[in-house]
Amino acid sequence: MSSVGRVVHKRLLLPLSKSLCGHAVVCRQSRSISSSSRCMSIMPAWVIDRYGSNDVLRYTKNASFPVINYPNEVIVKVFAAGLNPIDVSMRGGYGANTLSMKRDPLNIKLSGSEFPLILGRDVSGVIMECGPDVKYFKEGDEVWAAIPPWKQGSLAEFVVLSGNEISLKPKSLSHVEAAAIPYVATTSWSALVNTGGLNKDNCASKRILILGGSGGVGTFATQMLKAWGAHVTVTCSHNAERFVGELGVDHVVDYTAGPAEEALSALEKFDLVLDNVGGDTERWALGLLKPWSGAKYVTLVTPFLQNTDRLGIADGMMQTAATVATKTIKHLVKGVHYRWGFFAPSGPALDEITDMVDAGQIRAVVEEVFSFSQVSQAFEKVEKGHARGKTVIEISKGGD
Ligand SMILES: NC(=O)c1ccc[n+]([C@@H]2O[C@H](COP(=O)([O-])OP(=O)(O)OC[C@H]3O[C@@H](n4cnc5c(N)ncnc54)[C@H](OP(=O)(O)O)[C@@H]3O)[C@@H](O)[C@H]2O)c1
Repeated sequence: MSSVGRVVHKRLLLPLSKSLCGHAVVCRQSRSISSSSRCMSIMPAWVIDRYGSNDVLRYTKNASFPVINYPNEVIVKVFAAGLNPIDVSMRGGYGANTLSMKRDPLNIKLSGSEFPLILGRDVSGVIMECGPDVKYFKEGDEVWAAIPPWKQGSLAEFVVLSGNEISLKPKSLSHVEAAAIPYVATTSWSALVNTGGLNKDNCASKRILILGGSGGVGTFATQMLKAWGAHVTVTCSHNAERFVGELGVDHVVDYTAGPAEEALSALEKFDLVLDNVGGDTERWALGLLKPWSGAKYVTLVTPFLQNTDRLGIADGMMQTAATVATKTIKHLVKGVHYRWGFFAPSGPALDEITDMVDAGQIRAVVEEVFSFSQVSQAFEKVEKGHARGKTVIEISKGGD
């Protein structure tokens, strides 16, 4: 059995939360056995009270202290949080309709009940308290995780996560380094492994093209695929060529030097294209795949959340289903597979990645570290784009 298989098996042995009516009890029980959180009802955090540009970010010392609502949840003390382009998009309201439905499926709460909203999808920290069904982790464990966008994020002193979403942090990384990885890693894993069908045993003879290879997802995906023996070609701008070369990329195409599709069409065809750029790329990227060989195009730039933001949940989902079905069939008749990839939080995937990091196969690429008082500047930096590594916020000193 592969190591991920073993991990999943172990984790499946854990009893999962079943009844909502037990939650209040669980919460009281778990908080009553905790010495650390018993007296706390507020914590410092960066929140937004409405969607907008950077000026909606607000620091407060009075954010609600998170509580364990399900028996398989843990409270994590945040030492470092990573920022991603999705945090900037969510600050502006991206995905608000779908994420509100996920937070409140019965639509009981008033509109705007997500506020004050805490952003931040990456976390590295220490477990402060475990729900009664958490068996795989214990208080004091150093963990990392990618936080689902419908949950409160990591730009706070504490965050609540499910035991299925967290993983033991790589020992070889500091918290600041670790916070650079989970969101891009679980997105890459979901796109390449779950959607693309790649794994460590079937990559050796594969040619992979990553469009947007110098960004957060691209740099992680490159390292994972190189560790699995694939041949990796990426597109990026001229000034990132050296940076991606250091990550082990086999071939680089500078998209600023002329039409990337022309340079790429001159190359041998690919087994998989991971598209981190979107837009015009769909017009030509599927033509770069080996036809009738099971080759796949997986794009991370999908209209799913824009559709539901624009059209509402029902119409947006119908529009999305129609779009993906049409495109899938259109390309299937030409012998290639068209797929959408999505971020999927996963502790078991992070377990695998922890092993790869500790084996020296993947490194954290941190471009700049900000303090907890500089969250606004960190957002500005991510919003500018063209980063050469992740932006990380050190929330609490003393973690490393
Ligand atoms: N569907 C999902 O669940 C999901 C999850 C995560 C991310 N995403 C999406 O995936 C994309 C990548 O995320 P990320 O975190 O890696 O973003 P990022 O860090 O901003 O990286 C963007 C990358 O795109 C490159 N790029 C920009 N314009 C380009 C162009 N015209 N041609 C070729 N490359 C171009 C950049 O290269 P240079 O900097 O060298 O110019 C950089 O490598 C984003 O659109 C994000 O929204 C989707």
